[in-house]
Amino acid sequence: MEASRKLICRQRQVLFFFFLLGFSQVSAGELRRYAVVEEKEGRSFVTNLVNDLGLGQLELSRRGAKVISKGNKLHLQLDQETGDLLLNERMDREELCGLTEPCLLRFQVLLDNPLEIFQAELEVTDINDHSPTFLDKEIMLKISESSLPGTTFPLKNAQDMDIGQNGIDNYLVSSNSYFHVLTRKRSDGKKYPELVLDRALDREEEAELRLTLTAQDGGSPPRSGTTEVHIEVLDFNDNAPQFEQLLYRAQIPEDSPIGFLIITVSATDKDIGVNGEISYSLFQASDDISKTFSIHPLTGEVRLKEHLDFEKTRSYEVNVEAKDAGTFSGKCAILAQVTDVNDHAPEIILSALTNPIPENLPETMVAVFSVSDLDSGENGKISCSIQNDLPFFLKPSGENFYTLLTQKPLDRETTAEYNITITVSDMGSPRLTTQHTIAVQVSDINDNAPAFTQSSYTLSVRENNSPALLIGSIRATDSDSGSNAHITYSLLPPQDPQLALATLISINTNNGQLFALRSLDYEALKSFEFRVAATDHGSPALSSQALVQVLVLDDNDNAPFVLYPLQNASAPCNELLPRAAEPGYLVT
Ligand SMILES: *[C@@H]1O[C@H](CO)[C@@H](O)[C@H](O)[C@H]1NC(C)=O
Ligand SMILES: *[C@@H]1O[C@H](CO)[C@@H](O)[C@H](O)[C@H]1NC(C)=O
Repeated sequence: MEASRKLICRQRQVLFFFFLLGFSQVSAGELRRYAVVEEKEGRSFVTNLVNDLGLGQLELSRRGAKVISKGNKLHLQLDQETGDLLLNERMDREELCGLTEPCLLRFQVLLDNPLEIFQAELEVTDINDHSPTFLDKEIMLKISESSLPGTTFPLKNAQDMDIGQNGIDNYLVSSNSYFHVLTRKRSDGKKYPELVLDRALDREEEAELRLTLTAQDGGSPPRSGTTEVHIEVLDFNDNAPQFEQLLYRAQIPEDSPIGFLIITVSATDKDIGVNGEISYSLFQASDDISKTFSIHPLTGEVRLKEHLDFEKTRSYEVNVEAKDAGTFSGKCAILAQVTDVNDHAPEIILSALTNPIPENLPETMVAVFSVSDLDSGENGKISCSIQNDLPFFLKPSGENFYTLLTQKPLDRETTAEYNITITVSDMGSPRLTTQHTIAVQVSDINDNAPAFTQSSYTLSVRENNSPALLIGSIRATDSDSGSNAHITYSLLPPQDPQLALATLISINTNNGQLFALRSLDYEALKSFEFRVAATDHGSPALSSQALVQVLVLDDNDNAPFVLYPLQNASAPCNELLPRAAEPGYLVT
């Protein structure tokens, strides 16, 4: 029961509403329009209905005038006494109508006796009470530095709750040398900003830009809102790698080991990322250069690949290229000076040698030799010497040539052989030295006569010797050598012409042995002397002499013989002795 009554009640209301509408449509004349500016204080005056509707002063209250509107909320109130239509409360156009324009609120004025309905609408007009706002505090934008001037970049629009004139009118951008902003209109009438590039960007100069974008509405005075536009300039490979120096200088000691770090070159590329990645390589390297040097593609370290030789190549020019990932490249040159290291010992080349050298000659050439050193500078300067204590000296003879000479006549008998050590050293540090020893023989000249071991010899021989008996020997020496020292002995003719020496003595010419040719008789020849000679085989031959004395020794080869009294006498004793002979008297 309850529910059905409610339902009926609601149906009645609906019916009444339609009735009202239908009636009003019939009775309504023109649509009255009033306007009020939003945000006015409550109880602000809108219009005077008495004047508007052409009614008497008391008619409104008498006919129970009412203001009604669709929907629940009535924004107006009617002063029955004065007929003034007043605002009920402050009105916010944006709240009431949002973006709908014009913002119209329909209402009716209802009069009884007779029933009369006036249709009216209240236009709430906009005031500029909202500033444009951007949804984002910051707008991120990535723009390649390769973008051409004239390129446009549409940006998000700002919003303004106000409409019409008070809506967004234009956009501005803070002053900068790259962009200006255009205010564009979308098909729905909304205005949005568009950045226009005026001048090409250069990431290497400015990698990012911060601009302030301002949206301005058309109100009076205008309101504005800002946002920050953060532009990141994207790299484009537009820079070639650049070396820190166009010319590097390096010094390489020629004895540097393989792998020796000569220099590290370095290039930079203003581009970033892949565009700035540099790889190093040798540029237009000859076979010789690429055999000798290597470069690390990433670090730029230039190292030695092969041993150097200052004497062959004194400097190198190595061209290096730095390439980025694209097609750009930079170049530099390394001027590498090879510095000499004392790595070559001096050399001696003998070009003439006199050996043996005859003795007794004045200043004689022994040898001619040349010296050389493959190093240069001090490392190649040579000094030459021989031992101090030898009778030889060096005489410089032309460039790098020396003659080795004797200082004085040599005497083979004193020194028959010399070991001459030629020492050559360079002036490098450390000094390198080479020695060469020449063994020089002194050849003999027959300048020494044979010399007897004694100036005279005394030989003894017992008489009655057997014939051809060795009675002794004589000896001479000769300090010369070879045939100059080969001695032949001989007997010299005796001074006493009576002495038949040849029958008495013979000599071995080779060894000086003396022989008695026949048996000697002391009783006949007690001694004799003669001279011997020793002669060498030199040319001319030299000889010397010695005296030999031969003593014949007595042998008991004769019985004693009494001369008085004769043994064969018949009378055994002839001596007479006086009686008075005293002791000590001579008998016979
Ligand atoms: C010279 O050198 C040789 C070989 O070393 C040696 O046999 C000889 O005794 C040396 N002679 C002299 C005079 O030093
Ligand atoms: C005795 O000997 C001596 C000397 O030999 C001699 O002269 C003399 O005739 C001898 N007399 C006799 C008798 O043989």
